[in-house]
Amino acid sequence: MEDQEKRIHELENEIKSLKDVRKTLRHNFQGMVQLLVETISLSNRFLGGHLKRTSVMIKSFLEKQNLPKDSVFFAYYAALLHDIGLVGEDAVIIEKPRAELSEEEEKLFLLHPVRGYEIVNSIYNLKRIAASIRAHHENYDGTGFPDKLIGREIPEVSRLLHIVDDFDHYRFKYNSTPKEAVAKLLDGAGTVYDPEMVNQFESFINLYYQDTSHTAKTVNLDRLESGMYLDEDIILSNGVLLAPKGIILDNLAVAKIHSFSSMIRGGHVIRVIY
Ligand SMILES: [Fe+2]
Ligand SMILES: [Fe+2]
Repeated sequence: MEDQEKRIHELENEIKSLKDVRKTLRHNFQGMVQLLVETISLSNRFLGGHLKRTSVMIKSFLEKQNLPKDSVFFAYYAALLHDIGLVGEDAVIIEKPRAELSEEEEKLFLLHPVRGYEIVNSIYNLKRIAASIRAHHENYDGTGFPDKLIGREIPEVSRLLHIVDDFDHYRFKYNSTPKEAVAKLLDGAGTVYDPEMVNQFESFINLYYQDTSHTAKTVNLDRLESGMYLDEDIILSNGVLLAPKGIILDNLAVAKIHSFSSMIRGGHVIRVIY
């Protein structure tokens, strides 16, 4: 009996240390990806902002669906890395609306999901994220690229990424309002996007952006609060994009901004909507 209790105790300790190792690995991975995205934002602020906004939005969307933490993390990192295949490309290809790209630029643009896949797939344990990156421009009706996957053949996270990705471009490349951006997504329901997901996303956006019709105000850094819509980029003195225009602040983002307050470029007054 005593032996049994001893064994149970040993097993409990082993489980605890395995959990600790898992936690450390996760923290290391998170740190590496964050560092990578900060580096991307240094060379192309538009791309850095796009990756940060889409990842924050996808996380918020999935948390509202009450998905397990692991699924939320998976989608969050897929979003943070989804356009890594564009790194090193001419800023024109990244920042110009796709309809305005030249034939040559369009050819290069079409390569980025496979390039991104190849970069991420080479990292141990990231093969599932790599597959999601590869498919983020696949259309629901099979007319997308690179593999012309149809409907449920497209990984679930890629179907969601396609929606969040385009929403962000409508907002920040085409200057559409949230309402106009959602209307464009609904136009593509069943052809470009998973129709069920677009409907869920529409309900989510109506809540997420409920207060952005208010006019922008400036507040001092120490008065930033969770729930405020950031109406300008927050940039550090070394050029790193700390938080991009267009995110809704949560407690974590507010704490992060406060911790870098001495390094923020342009003073301590921030334009927000709330
Ligand atoms: Fe992309
Ligand atoms: Fe994108």
